[in-house]
Amino acid sequence: MEGSPERRQGGEGGGDVAASWWRDGVFYQIYPRSFADTDGDGVGDLRGIIDRLDHLEWLGVAGLWLNPTMPSPNEDWGYDVADFTAVHPELGTMEDLEELVAEAGRRGMRVLLDLVPNHTSDRHAWFQDALRGRDAPHRDFYVWADAAPDGSPPNNWESSFGGPAWTLDEASGQYYLHNFLPTQPDLNWWNEEVREAFDEILRFWFERGIAGFRIDVTHGIVKDRELRDDPAATPEDHPLVQARGLKQQFSMNRPEVHDVLRRWRALADAAEPKRILVGETYVLDLDQLVPFYGNGEDELNLAFNFLFVHAAFEAEEMRTVVEGVEARLPATSWPVWTGSNHDAGRLATRWAQGDAARARLALMMLICLRGTPFLYYGDEIGLPDVPLDPADALDPVPRRTGKAERNRDPCRTPMQWSAEPGAGFTEAGVRPWLPIGDAASCNVAAQREDRGSPLHLTRDLIALRAAEPDLRGGGYETLPAPDGAWAWRRGEGHAVALNLSGAEVTVPDLRGRVAIATERARDGEQVEGSLALGPWQGAVVALEP
Ligand code: GLC
Repeated sequence: MEGSPERRQGGEGGGDVAASWWRDGVFYQIYPRSFADTDGDGVGDLRGIIDRLDHLEWLGVAGLWLNPTMPSPNEDWGYDVADFTAVHPELGTMEDLEELVAEAGRRGMRVLLDLVPNHTSDRHAWFQDALRGRDAPHRDFYVWADAAPDGSPPNNWESSFGGPAWTLDEASGQYYLHNFLPTQPDLNWWNEEVREAFDEILRFWFERGIAGFRIDVTHGIVKDRELRDDPAATPEDHPLVQARGLKQQFSMNRPEVHDVLRRWRALADAAEPKRILVGETYVLDLDQLVPFYGNGEDELNLAFNFLFVHAAFEAEEMRTVVEGVEARLPATSWPVWTGSNHDAGRLATRWAQGDAARARLALMMLICLRGTPFLYYGDEIGLPDVPLDPADALDPVPRRTGKAERNRDPCRTPMQWSAEPGAGFTEAGVRPWLPIGDAASCNVAAQREDRGSPLHLTRDLIALRAAEPDLRGGGYETLPAPDGAWAWRRGEGHAVALNLSGAEVTVPDLRGRVAIATERARDGEQVEGSLALGPWQGAVVALEP
């Protein structure tokens, strides 16, 4: 699936990066339960995605990432996998999935599945076997340990979803590890049999034509062999690490993870055509992020950048993260930029605080940085999080942690296709699995009729990226900009200027023509030496040679 052998300019080092579909294109993340329901049960399904491929082709995306599609008791909505080589019946059949891959392919789009190698569901046959006792064949597929001498759990590790990361199995008297829910036992990646089982799982899906995987909790799969205590966070740590209390230095983030990634990359590269690996690399420090690319060609193809996801939508903070990535990434590695996902929430709410102009600016930023953008379903229409009562949460996290703000349901609500009852997601009168937001004020059908909409802006930006080599492979260079603004050059011939503030700004030293402005009436405007931008406005400028 590599594209032409054309080489491109890399980061500030002026490296050399091969053009390829996954570097050039824009990805689109689909939460299958919430995209389109074709069988009237209020839950989205694979056939619904097939039905909506025309929308995605029209939008111009190159790749789809589907949140988990495998059988699951849904205690963590698919992230508790009971069978790694099948399709969850609520979502459809293996034939549906194969048809989806083929139909997407016909439209020039490739499909990534979500792989969850850190843990399984407690209902998985491996864990059911492991529970049979210390000598069970799959016992060592999981992480077991005896109680501490005082009878407490083996060490101080805490679950990311609240409480201790250990649960006692009374029958055998040992504890098993779960960095997430007690119904999500962690796999033991020191066991060669686990590694071999996953080799088979990767091959199984590659044979079904998927283009690769988004890999859940990539940073966490290998645990400290000696199960040492995690240290306390310090004031130097990222605020989100401090909020956690402990630094996940031994419960996750072990250096041996790179052996596994090299192994998977060899499998992905050996497939014909080559497949790609995109990691959920949840580290909040760029020096920890960069190693997930290995030497640039032997580990992940793309490593999600959570420092960027969690950066304030503010010029200096965003620019600092991007400059940090540009300075650190090996010349053969490629950045990835995201503003929304099924955990962090939607950019229209998180970054834009419900302000339409800011959401448009965020879309321009994501699509015009050097790297691969991942849009989350609904980003293209500026879909906000839907306010929901945490008391009704289907997400287990707010209940377990007692933190209402950790409810992830608001960013997982159904796609809003139209203003009709059911929002085009499901039939009128059907109760959707999560409530639908205000579809009258934000939906695909209405925005398709409106050239000034976020939907058309997104589509036009994607088309501009596809048309202009600068916006795909061109190097990034920060340009001078006043406080509150951020400007950069892409390649030789394009500049992007964003005003991330509520004041008017003037970006100096620009000469050319506005290719696309967030304020669409300004498309085509001549830029004669400087560009004035109103509050939360941005523009891509085709520079005069
Ligand atoms: C990842 C997923 C998240 C899930 C967790 C546990 O962070 O993105 O949705 O709850 O892993 O599998």
